[in-house]
Formats: sequence, structure tokens, C-alpha cells
Amino acid sequence: MYCTRKVLDDLIWVGADDRRLPFFEGVYGVPDGVSYNSYLMLDEKTVLFDTVDKAVYGVFLENLAHALGGRKLDYIVVHHMEPDHAATLELVLQRYPEAAVVCNAKIQTMLGQFFPMDLTGRIHLVKEGDSLSVGRHTLNFVMAPMVHWPEVMMTYDSTDKILFTADAFGSFGALNGRLFADEVDFFRDHLDEARRYYTNIVGKYGPQVQAVLKKAAKLDIAYVCPLHGFVWRSHFGDFLEKYLLWSSYTPEERSVVLAYASVYGHTENTANILAAKLCEKGVKVRMYDTSVTPASYIVSEAFRCSHLVFAATTYNAGVFVTMENLLHDIAAHNLQNRKVALIENGSWAPTSGKVMQEILSGLKGIEFYENKITLKSALAEGQLAEIEALAQAIADELAPKAAVVEFAEAPANVEFKAENVDNKVFSKFSYGVEVLTTRVDGRDYGCIINTAGQVASADPKKITISCIKKNHTCDMVMKAGRFNISILTEDAPYSLFQRFGFQSGRDVDKFADLDYDVRTSNGIRYIPQYTNAVLSCEIIDVKDLETQTLYIANVVEAKVLSSAPSCTYGYYHAHIKPKKNPAPEQKECWVCKVCGYVFEGAEMPDDFTCPLCKHGKDEFEHVVPEVKPKQKGYVCSICGHFEPCDGELPADYTCPLCKHGREDFTPAEQ
Ligand code: FEO
Repeated sequence: MYCTRKVLDDLIWVGADDRRLPFFEGVYGVPDGVSYNSYLMLDEKTVLFDTVDKAVYGVFLENLAHALGGRKLDYIVVHHMEPDHAATLELVLQRYPEAAVVCNAKIQTMLGQFFPMDLTGRIHLVKEGDSLSVGRHTLNFVMAPMVHWPEVMMTYDSTDKILFTADAFGSFGALNGRLFADEVDFFRDHLDEARRYYTNIVGKYGPQVQAVLKKAAKLDIAYVCPLHGFVWRSHFGDFLEKYLLWSSYTPEERSVVLAYASVYGHTENTANILAAKLCEKGVKVRMYDTSVTPASYIVSEAFRCSHLVFAATTYNAGVFVTMENLLHDIAAHNLQNRKVALIENGSWAPTSGKVMQEILSGLKGIEFYENKITLKSALAEGQLAEIEALAQAIADELAPKAAVVEFAEAPANVEFKAENVDNKVFSKFSYGVEVLTTRVDGRDYGCIINTAGQVASADPKKITISCIKKNHTCDMVMKAGRFNISILTEDAPYSLFQRFGFQSGRDVDKFADLDYDVRTSNGIRYIPQYTNAVLSCEIIDVKDLETQTLYIANVVEAKVLSSAPSCTYGYYHAHIKPKKNPAPEQKECWVCKVCGYVFEGAEMPDDFTCPLCKHGKDEFEHVVPEVKPKQKGYVCSICGHFEPCDGELPADYTCPLCKHGREDFTPAEQ
């Protein structure tokens, strides 16, 4: 039975998943399967874009027949002749004898090599810049040599702005019913397999990928349809950014991948000691045993991380076989611009360090640490200092210490006196307002803050935030060691501030009923609406500020979400926070300037803490109501705004604060 999905009304996915394939291309394990994508365009002419691997030809032919609905097939656009996409081409050509093949000259040559069939009169040759009208759609052809074979080309449909990208932007993993990247949490759940796919399949050809990305940058793209993995119809720029990094051999993260090959455990023990020392110094490390983890995963990690440590025993007067395979694989994939440390082991003639260095030394931009460590059978007590020195050398680059500041001249010691500090000054700062989010033990937390600011501009950039200790999110940020900041914009509704600012994560799930669940690569949610940017941060230092905790953090991911202006703390007070309504009985009270909480009574205890936003008495305004006659009007049930009015509100009336209409107002007297 057919199994298809619509990309658009006139573009149908007719591909298939393969979950029984143990090794893609006979070498790359695919525990989550793989998809072979093929697409059928239904215009005045019908156009099939590529076919599939022979393993799934049955359902593919059913899909194609169903999607055609009895129409004949006019064109088959062939982007790539590798058999995972072209193995079924011969069958399709036999079954649809009127179909012409749209391809370039290199593809025509390979067609003849793979399928010695007579295609006279059935080839429509195209080259860079050619186009083909198939009715409403115009197809434009873009050559993409070496992404991943020399014959590869792409097609850009300038009508619906669809780019068919062949292998580019593909991923390992079956689709499992999903088709679009926005139907999954791609960056949390699928980025690793997309990276492993890219680095192992196309990673060697970074300059060629860059050349195609330059061409693509000139196109207005709404849909990206690759031959494996998900179709992109939103947030493609985020994935494109990863491609720009991978294809330029730029690390995504300043951290260490430590791969070791150990026969009897002594090299592994040394690797563990180094990893522990690195972690103590605040360096992020991921470790892999080359005899356990297939090389494709470690190659992918080597593309992700900035620093590589290889530790291996000597074997057959060379280097242990699994490490040798890995390093040849890394070299074959042309990895560049990495800092490498080596540890060799050998009981009588250690040579693995020399061999490892030789394998990698031809790669561009590879720099070796001078502190190469040689073990004789096992790490000797006296060599702990060498491990410490290597860990320190790496940490000095990856976990820079704060500079110690020495004043040239001792500053005058000015004593604090409260009367010398006008609290109104602090409302003159133009603070932004942000939603701080984090995640602990599978649960999401968030609160409003107005304390985020950049404090260092060198990479990785640093920001600080401070958080009221009584806020549950503050504790959770400490536990998680990382957080996201979503920068709020001026159109943010008061309800968003109420959701994240005026209730506690101890009592409620602040994310309940939100109609979005989006996360950055660190798995933490962010707020995609009423925000213009999100930053993902890793905490590097914490300071106790008595009532607040100050976090200093590296920005490890940051992206712009919109061009809307940022909401400042002043804008929030002037335009978003509802103007406070006097207490119904006109009682004397104290009103929290931060969240609007009303403490009724003439006297407020000095140690009082706002139960909603946790600010102290200093943030409360003492309100002594004037005695004046009550006024008729209407109160907004959404934001509390009171609109004086003797008669009926006009039919087109909208609340000046929250923009809700007359139906949300009820009569009131104030
Ligand atoms: Fe998916 Fe290069 O084939």
C-alpha cells in the first residue's frame, strides 16, 4: 500500500524509509535507519525528482503510481547518480516509457555506465543556469559538483521557491511518518545524526559545499527538499549556519574530544586522568574508546569540537589498528583548523605518537601541542605532572581565567551611607527584559529577569545575569549549569509577564498550555513569540550577592528571532504593565513596583518580601489614596485597565493596554 505525504498541494513526497539497513554505504552504522526521498511535482507536466534505493523500490513504485493518479510521467530530474537515489531509475524508465530524463552531461555518462539501456531521444540535457517550464512551475538548474559526487546538481523551483538539494542538508535517520523538520525537535534530537551524515558523506568537500552555499545565498528559499532526512519549511537558516561551520571546518564548540585506543587499560587510565583534570579546570570533554565507538561518530565529534586528544598504544610497530583507522578517516575527511594533543604508549619501542602525528600532519590548520606524552606500559607516578601540564595548556585556551586587576593607585575608601544613594538613579539604566529558562531532570523552568548584559566581547562572548535567590528558577539555573535568555520585545503582552513573572515554578508548570515547544541545541526551551533573540549560555562562574545570585556565562549559541525592538524595563512600566487600580475600598496600601502586588495596610514590615516576584520593601510604593467620589466605568478583565465611562463603551473600543475589545470589559466603579 502506498505511503505518501504532501510537501505542497502539487508536490508529493513519494520516498520511503529503510530501517533494516545495518550500514549505509556499507560502512556507516544507521541504528535509526535512513530515508530515501523522492518527490513528484504535479503541474501541466508531471516531474519526478530522483528515485530511491533498490531496498525500498516496491513501496516507492506504489507511491509514484498513486501520486500520479493515472497521469503519465513526463520528466525525471536526476540530481545524483549514486545508487541510493538512482538504483530504481531503470525500473521507472521501463514502467514510464514516455518519461524524459532531465540531467547534465556527467549524469548522462553515469546513466550509461549503470544502466546500459537505449535512451535515445529521452535525455533532456541541462547545464548551469538553464531552466525548464513545466506549467505553473519553472525549474532552474544549479550545478553542485562534489556534493557529493562530481555529477551532482540541484534544482530551484522559482515559482514556489523550492530548492531540491540532492545529498546536501540530508541526515541519517528514518522519517518515521514525520516529513518536515518542524515536526520534530531537530536541533535537540536530530542534529547529531545530521552532522554525522554531513561530515562522513560530504565532509571532505568543504570548499565545494561553500561554493554551492554561495549560489544558494542568492536564492529566495521557502522549502528545502533533500534526498535524505527532513524537508525544511521554516528556520532553515539555523541549519544553514551549521553547514557554514562544517564546510569551513570551523568548530561548533570550544571543547575537547578525547579518543583513545587501549589494549589492556593503561592508556585508557591515562586518558581518564587527563579527562578528570580537564573537567576540574572547567573544560568540556567527551571521551570515546576507538575499539567501541565506530569511527563515523568520532569523525563527527572531531568536526564539532575545537580540541582533539588522541591516546593510543603502539601496535605492530605502528599505532593500534582502531586508532589508525580513525585517524586515516579524519585525514580522508580533510578536517582542518584543530588543536591536537597526543599520548603514546609502548612497552619497549613507543612509536604510536610519531605515526599519529604523521597521519594528521598533512591537514591544513592542524596544530600539535608540544607536550606529547610518552607512556612506557603505564602512567608513572612522576608523569602526573606531565598530564597536569597538558590539561593546563588546554584549559588555558578553553577556560580562560578572569584577569586579576591591580589598581595602579589605591582608590579612596568611600564609606556607604544610604542617604548618599538615590534609588531613583537605578531606574535610569535602560535594562532590557528577558525570559530566563532552564531545564533540570526533564522539567522546564523559567522566569522574567531584567538583568542580562554582555560583559566580554571576545569569543566565547560572556554575559551576566542575576536572579533573585527566592525564585525557584534561580535554584534550577544553578543546578543545570546552563540557561537560555529570550529577549522580549515591545509587543510582548502583559499575560506573558504574568505567566513567567508572577507565579512560581514550585507551584505551577509555567509552560503548560503554551502552543509551542522550541528548544536550542542545549535542550532548553526558549520563547519564540514576542522575542527578538535567544542566547544559550554555559555558566562559568557564580557570585553570591546576598539577595541575588550573579551568574557569569559563556554564550555558546545565539540567534536573532525577529527585528522587533527590545522591550526595556522602562517601556514595560510605561506601556505594558497595567496602570494600577486603587484598592476597591480605597485602603492605604503598598504596591510592588515590579509586579503590581498590593500589600494592604498602612505599615509594611521592613523584612517583607513580595510573595509574587520576591522583591523586598524597597521596591514597594506606599499608596495613600485620596478620598474622592467613585467614578463609573469599565474594567478590562484581561489586564485590569479601568476606562472611565458614564454610558456604553463604543462598539470599536479596544483596551489601550492589552488591545482586547469591548467584550472583555465589565462595568465597574472606582
Ligand atoms: Fe545519498 Fe551521495 O548519495
